[in-house]
Amino acid sequence: MVEGDGDGELEARLVEQAEFEPSAEFVEQANVSDPNIYDEFEENWPECWEQAAAMLDWDTPYDEVLDDSNPPFYKWFTGGKLNASYNCLDRHVENGDKNRVAIKWEGEHGTTRTYTYQDLYREVNEFAASLRDLGVEEDDVVTLYMPMIPELPIAMLACARIGAPHSVVFAGFSAEALATRMNSADSRFLVTCDGYYRRGDPLDHLDKANEGLDGVDHGVDAAVVVDRLGDDGFGHELRGTQHDWDSLLAEHGGERVDPVQRDAEDMLFLMYTSGTTGQPKGVKHTTGGYLSYAAWTSHSVLDIKKEDTYWCAADIGWITGHSYIVYGPLALGTTTVMYEGTPDYPNRARLWKLVEKYSVDIFYTAPTAIRAFMKWGGQFPEKHDLSSLRLLGTVGEPINPRAWKWYYKHIGDEECPVVDTWWQTETGGMMITTLPGIGKMKPGSAGPPLPGVDAKVVDTSGKEVDAGRAGYLTVGKPWPGMLRTLYKNDERFIQEYWREYSDIDSDDPEDWVYFPEDGAKIDADGYITILGRVDDVINVSGHRLGTMEIESAIVGVEGVAEAAVVGGDHEVKGEAVYAYVITEEGQAEDDKMRERIIKGVEDAIGPIARPEQVLFTPELPKTRSGKIMRRLLEEIANGEELGDTTTLRNPEIVEEIQRQAEAE
Ligand code: WTA
Repeated sequence: MVEGDGDGELEARLVEQAEFEPSAEFVEQANVSDPNIYDEFEENWPECWEQAAAMLDWDTPYDEVLDDSNPPFYKWFTGGKLNASYNCLDRHVENGDKNRVAIKWEGEHGTTRTYTYQDLYREVNEFAASLRDLGVEEDDVVTLYMPMIPELPIAMLACARIGAPHSVVFAGFSAEALATRMNSADSRFLVTCDGYYRRGDPLDHLDKANEGLDGVDHGVDAAVVVDRLGDDGFGHELRGTQHDWDSLLAEHGGERVDPVQRDAEDMLFLMYTSGTTGQPKGVKHTTGGYLSYAAWTSHSVLDIKKEDTYWCAADIGWITGHSYIVYGPLALGTTTVMYEGTPDYPNRARLWKLVEKYSVDIFYTAPTAIRAFMKWGGQFPEKHDLSSLRLLGTVGEPINPRAWKWYYKHIGDEECPVVDTWWQTETGGMMITTLPGIGKMKPGSAGPPLPGVDAKVVDTSGKEVDAGRAGYLTVGKPWPGMLRTLYKNDERFIQEYWREYSDIDSDDPEDWVYFPEDGAKIDADGYITILGRVDDVINVSGHRLGTMEIESAIVGVEGVAEAAVVGGDHEVKGEAVYAYVITEEGQAEDDKMRERIIKGVEDAIGPIARPEQVLFTPELPKTRSGKIMRRLLEEIANGEELGDTTTLRNPEIVEEIQRQAEAE
């Protein structure tokens, strides 16, 4: 955790203040400011969610808000038909907003592109026509392996237009990770690009994409490649099944594709996320429920108005970018900002320069970024006029009060409410946070559950814990944005999310409780503080990584016999990966071996999973039943006092690992 606050950047007044109120000025203009909304939603549940559905245009009205006859396979807005691309584009174009800016994009080198809703509508149509031409049919999964370039949201909306679910794979993931996801989703189509810029240099992306394509077992029908780098490109010839994005658009110039009417419960997209096993989980989101929920939360929590310039500085390769760069903001018809590069290029004031340049009204980022800004110091935001900002948000991991306050003061000038939004890939949208026009804020605590969201903190038996006590977060009632299942794996869906607190033989929805696998505590006001994951998932810079995935990558390295990976505290990343490795007989335990292990992880997953430290050990601390005691390894990684070691089969090993860790 961050100890200092970088040259006294928070005065005692702020350090001590535990609660903050939104300004009268903010409340006055807020989309939601009537505290009765909590009671109204509770009394009128599940019909309250019609408010979310009403934010969309439906081709066919739905018959029923919620069908809960077969839990946990809930259905929302059944019988309704709609198209997500229509809701994000056509209706704005038709309603007099065609010249409003939809996407403001800035490349790392400062090149900019501006898409009005009309521009976006045209390109999405042209690309939808291109996809059809390449043989993409309704319900085919199209994989999008792309960085932060406008062609990514364009491809997403084009897929949505023709009813082909997309599966976006984060561009920082490795070739192997791409292949795993394409294989798992039976995806025969890929959209990718030649490369992109990182800290000033072009990066070869197509090389990775090609290697990934080689690993797709069922073969690939077609791939589309965006030319992002131009003359800076790496000169790869396109393969037989590969098509150039610009040529396709030119060929289909001016074409229109009617938006396909999708059933509310039809899949809009798949998003793979890490879980407790080595295999990533394909989270399935639907058209009606997800889009309603993304739009409603964008409206009520992010307070987005169409006149706003809104910036979520996440990557579209994660769920945050799906819900709050693309679908939510575009459904509301606002201007969404996209930035290609890193926050410290060409200098540490880059983001603030952008806020000033585009007069950004709402800014949404992750605690890891805020901790980095805080470490860099207040002189960078100070150089720029940030007075356009009205609201700030954070997501992805717990934020410590000091970082929250730094953000509030140095970015928001003590004028902007901060929403600390807890949610997950699986929840589709925000679940626990204050409503900025209503609730007081308590730094470090996400806030109460949103209206209509039945989140509780319980003990292992499922009983609610008393205020102040730690327990486990659960969600009792379903919500429209929830995942519907894990792709082609209903059984794993039940095992992973429901088994813990549900009576899985019951068909009474009251007996079904969703378990997000987070620890939490609740205070007397009902504010929930998230304590972090309670499963084997590490949260590195707000990115979810499964320890099993990393361990299996390490065990795949020649000379490795066994490995255990844990998350240890990290000043900026929140958590970092610590690897404990047992080598095979005769294998040298040197820096070369460490490098091979690190490379093994980067190849299997990507640089984000790179271990911070690799420690060699002759054994791992194990219980008598042979289970690795991860808790002890975490304590070692954090340099903490060790807890109970008496249940260990090999207690002496702990001291030895500790000695090595200290020597590093
Ligand atoms: C964590 C990201 C504390 C949590 C949208 C959750 C948070 C996991 C917060 C989901 C927050 C997310 N405070 N922890 N405001 N937001 N988390 O699927 O552990 O990438 O389970 O979704 O991030 O990560 P995911």
